[in-house]
Parts: sequence; structure tokens; C-alpha cells
Amino acid sequence: MSWYEPDPKQSLERIVDVAGNSRGRVIDVGGGQSFLVDRLLETGFPHVAVLDISQTAINATKARLGDRASQVEWIVADITQRDSLGEFDVWHDRAVFHFITDPEDRTHYVELLKRSLPIGGHFVVGTFARGGPDKCSGLPICQYDAATMQAELGPSFEPVECSEYLHTTPTGKPQQFFFGTYKRVP
Ligand SMILES: C[S@@+](CC[C@H](N)C(=O)[O-])C[C@H]1O[C@@H](n2cnc3c(N)ncnc32)[C@H](O)[C@@H]1O
Repeated sequence: MSWYEPDPKQSLERIVDVAGNSRGRVIDVGGGQSFLVDRLLETGFPHVAVLDISQTAINATKARLGDRASQVEWIVADITQRDSLGEFDVWHDRAVFHFITDPEDRTHYVELLKRSLPIGGHFVVGTFARGGPDKCSGLPICQYDAATMQAELGPSFEPVECSEYLHTTPTGKPQQFFFGTYKRVP
């Protein structure tokens, strides 16, 4: 359990853009205590899953949602150790992929991502960017830009929109972020 985003505007806009009117199934990997799940339910997404390694973070989010928690699929798991998750139309990950510093774990993650997204599905990812922090919650991270993220994802993912922006933490600290939206292609 660590920091989370109280207003996940950037993530929500990207998910809504690619999901279109049909909405569909969304998974927030490393959702933690983010308010993204609240916003997705309010926006009318019928199937929302939240995965996190921390049972404490999941419990806190469930408690915050109250009755609405029963509308969500909750998964407590280490994403680098899972072999299957079912199918989703959109896989969102903000500030989890950058924690995965072992190349074998990243390969495992990308293989699971490919199995979980049908052709035409989308991957929305946010990480610290080059020039941003080199640690997150005291742990080492990998920084990304459009080229290095594409190198990790390989040819099964086509970029839809990649950009960088300056995020300001609640304590006023600026952090350079990379955000990418990718389409799963054959
Ligand atoms: C920095 S927080 C970001 C939370 C949220 N995505 C946001 O942007 O507000 C990272 C989250 O990823 C979770 N996490 C870290 N490593 C993970 C892993 N290997 N598998 C699943 N969740 C993980 C943490 O418990 C934490 O909730």
C-alpha cells in the first residue's frame, strides 16, 4: 500500500476515449486506494476489476465504496506471479509497471497482458518518465518514454497516444510522468 491518486482525470479520460459507448470490461492493475474505480462505476462501466498486491489497500477501497463494492471484482495478487486473469477490454496501470525492475518479471507481465486483452483491446499505462523520480515509495523504479515502453511491449501493441506531463504531489512536489495508450494488434 502506498500513495494513490485522488483525482484520476488523465486515466479516466484515456479509458473513456478507447472504451467508446460500449464501455466493456476494465481492470485497474495496482489500483490500490485510487478513486479510479469510483469514477469508472459513476461513468457506467458494467464490469470493473481492481487488482492489488495489498489486501490492506483493497480493504480500504472496499470500505470507501460501501454498498457499491459488490459491483467490483476484487483480486489480491502480485501481477508478476499471476498466469491468468480472464479477458478485459481495457487494462489500466498507473505507477505499477515502473516498479517491475526485473526483466523476467516484465516479460511475464507483458505475456499476461497479451493473454488478457483480445485483439482491439487497449492498454493504458502511466509511469515515471525520464527526468522524473528514480524511486517511488523508497523503491527503485524504471523510467519510460514512448520508445522504451514500445520496446517492452513489442509488436503486439500499437501506440494510440503517448505523452508526458508534470504531476504535482499533494505536498507540492513536481513529478514527470509518461502516459501511453496502446491498442492490442495481431
Ligand atoms: C504508487 S501506487 C499507485 C496506485 C494507483 N494506481 C494510483 O495511481 O493512484 C502503486 C500500487 O501498486 C501496488 N503494487 C505494487 N506492486 C504490485 C504488484 N507486483 N502487483 C500488484 N500490485 C502491486 C501497490 O500496492 C500500490 O497500491
